Order: sequence, then C-alpha cells, then structure tokens
Amino acid sequence: MDDLISRTRAAVWLPCTQMKQLEAAPPLVIARGEGAWLIDPEGRRYLDAISSWWVNLFGHCNPRINAAITDQLGKIEHVMLAGATHEPVVELSERLAAITGLGHAFYASDGASATEIALKMSAHYWRNAGQAEKNGFISLKNGYHGETVGALSVTDIPLFKSTYEPLLRHTVQVLTPDARLAEPGESAEAYALRCADALEAHLAEHAATTAAFIVEPLVQGAAGMAIYPPIYLARARELCDQYRVHLIADEIAVGFGRTGSMFACEQAGIKPDFICLSKGITGGYLPLSAVLTTDTVYAAFYSDAFARGFLHSHSYTGNPLACRAALAVLDIFEQDNVIATNRVKAAGFTSILAEVAAHPRVRHFRHLGMIWAFDVAGTTADFARRFAQSALEQGVLLRPIGNTVYCMPPYVVGEDEMGRVAAAMLHGLDKTATSGRDSVSDAGSGKLP
Ligand SMILES: Cc1ncc(COP(=O)(O)O)c(C=O)c1O
Repeated sequence: MDDLISRTRAAVWLPCTQMKQLEAAPPLVIARGEGAWLIDPEGRRYLDAISSWWVNLFGHCNPRINAAITDQLGKIEHVMLAGATHEPVVELSERLAAITGLGHAFYASDGASATEIALKMSAHYWRNAGQAEKNGFISLKNGYHGETVGALSVTDIPLFKSTYEPLLRHTVQVLTPDARLAEPGESAEAYALRCADALEAHLAEHAATTAAFIVEPLVQGAAGMAIYPPIYLARARELCDQYRVHLIADEIAVGFGRTGSMFACEQAGIKPDFICLSKGITGGYLPLSAVLTTDTVYAAFYSDAFARGFLHSHSYTGNPLACRAALAVLDIFEQDNVIATNRVKAAGFTSILAEVAAHPRVRHFRHLGMIWAFDVAGTTADFARRFAQSALEQGVLLRPIGNTVYCMPPYVVGEDEMGRVAAAMLHGLDKTATSGRDSVSDAGSGKLP
C-alpha cells in the first residue's frame, strides 16, 4: 500500500488536490469494490456514502453492468461516430429520448463537455436563426457546471474560478433560490419566486443578447447540496419562453433518480430546451455524457450548408462500451422499478438519520430523493478535512463541502449501511466539536476533502 502511495505521489497528479497535502494525508488505496463498499489491499472496507463523486448508482462491480460491458467487449470496443454508427448508441439515444422528451442525443465523455456542448449549441442556434448577438449566458449564484474554460465561465465557485478569471468569458449570475437563504418567516416558495423576479428583471433588460439560462435543477450540488422548490424552475421556464432565451437543465448530478424522479425537471412539470446528462448515466462505470435538445433546435442546424451544422467532436463520442453500460443502467431502472423502490427506501433512511437531524450542532437538515445534507454550526476552517478523516476511521467515505455534510449513497445501500453512515456522522459531529465561531472558509466544492 505504501508503495502505491509513493508511486502515486511520484507519477500521478490527482484532481482537485493540493498535492503537498498528500504528505500528511495519503490517498485511500482501493483494490476492489463490492456493492456500496470500497475495499483496500489489506481488506479494510469503506462505505462509499458519496457514490464516488455522485456517479455510482447500483454499486461497484455490479454483475448486470459487468455482463453488458463484457458482452460488448467481444463485439466492438470503439469506433468513431463521425461517418459511422452502431447499435448501442442508437438504442441508447432512442431510450434517452423516450424518457427525457427531447432528442438527437449528442455525446461526449464528461459533465463539463456536456455543458460546453449545450452552451455552444444554444449560441449557434441563435446564430443560425439570424440572431448572432444572442450569445450571452446566465447562471445561478453558487452554481457549478464543470471546470473546462467554457463551463467554468458559467460556474460560480470562486475557489475554482478566480485564478482562471482572465481566461473566462463574462457571464451573469442571478440570485440563487437556495432555500437556506429565505428571510426569517419567508417560505422557500416565496423566496424562490422573489429570485425568479430577479431573473425576470435581468431578462427584461438583456434578453436580446442572451442565448441561454443554465441551471442545476432542484439541487445545487457543489454549493453544498442547496435545495430549492420546483416552483422556481416552473417560473424560469415561463420566463425563458416569454423572453425567448433557452433553458439548459444541467442534470449531470441530479439526473437518473437522484432527486426522487428520473429527472429533476419532472418535479416542476417542465421540459428544458437542452438537458445535460452524465455521472449516473453509466452507473459510475465509464465516462459518458449526453446533451439532448428539441426538434426546433435540431432543425436550425439541418441544412445543405456544412458550417450550419454542429461541428463539434470528441474522439470517444458515443463509445460502445459506455453506451452498453448506460443501457444496462436503464434496464435496471425498468426491471427493478428503482424510482418507486427508492421512495420507500428513502423514507426509512430519513428515519435512520433522525438522531443526526436532531443533533444540537446540525442546522438546515434537508433531504430530497437519495440526497441528505445538513450544515454544521461551530466549525473551524479545517472542519471538512477533519470530519472526512473521522468518518474514514469509522469505515465510511464522506467528503463535506465546507461546513455542509451530505450523504448521496449508491441506490443499493441497505438500512444497516445507512445506520453506519448515521453513526459515522454522529461520531464526526462529536469529534469535530469546538467552542469556536462558525467558519466556512474551506467551503467550496464537494470535490474538496
Ligand atoms: C451539476 C454538475 N455539472 C457539471 C459537472 C461536471 O462534471 P464532470 O466532473 O464530469 O466534468 C458536475 C460535477 O460535479 C456537476 O455536479
């Protein structure tokens, strides 16, 4: 194990990591996975309570997804998708269209690439429609849409953004409907509508130069699992229609059942102009993302003129192995009635976490679908790191976001396992107790330890 750690430090540059910190806090070495568990080379087991950066849905080494990928390996591992096509990408596109109500799936590998594609497609649509000046973007305060240069332009997490500010395009952030920010006595819905008014005020002035409004529907993950009511999305849809601005739903983190419905937008009864999907799409197996859009958008690109087409590509677009993993995930959703089963499970898990919710240091305990989160009072600047370490000692992988602790488990966890999560949370709350004042100085992203 030590050997792998020193070789990692010598040869690998870990994501979202200050590498010098590995001197004091070595990375977890993982040799195997089994259901919701990660297992190190010496057999120590860690419950993956955050689904490996929110990607895993049906456990590690899931036999059904393994079988689909293995079967595909014997046929074709990859072929470029320009000038060629194959059964897995066609079937996946048809099935994604059926469940999103959108179509013409355009594929990439990671979430940030899906954001890039949606932004480019939206601006290109307006250009093809003779309104090239509509190329600006709006996003929510504290939003997160990935970290490539275009995606970072609509992300609003200073820790990730400020260093690269000179490289980025100017975009506008509007008031976030994060329910925690409601005034005392103001309901989450009333606050959300107040935020929608702020969106309208911006659109009323700038719609002529705005291509799209991009949102994380219902939950702003990296902002600290900030949950807001569906009414905001419903109103945003109306406003985008009224002012002729695209609505891009970034369902990269919340899609595939995470908020209790297959897609979060369903809870607001709306259809976006673009939907970005990734993470859970392959059950956490292989990098795959997709953007689906409306027939109207698609038609604006369909032409005899080559340059009116969407001339964007990635080498691994529509990779057959990743598509087969995604198809196996959709099969599991259908065969196991996952959305309904999760609803019952989630109610039980919330009861299991009741003692955590009632802990005197816990503020804003919140829950939506298969996400639980709370803020912790009386934290020091190194709270997130210390809490994560104490959870690991209890055999549970948790990565607080600043002073927000959250659990986003694979859907295959059981009540015993959630009991362990609750115990680790209570242990962490006691172990990190201080008499100091609140601090959120290490707040930023769930990608931070
Ligand atoms: C809402 C949202 N959008 C985009 C991304 C970026 O995805 P990726 O890390 O695969 O680039 C993330 C990742 O956490 C996300 O949560």
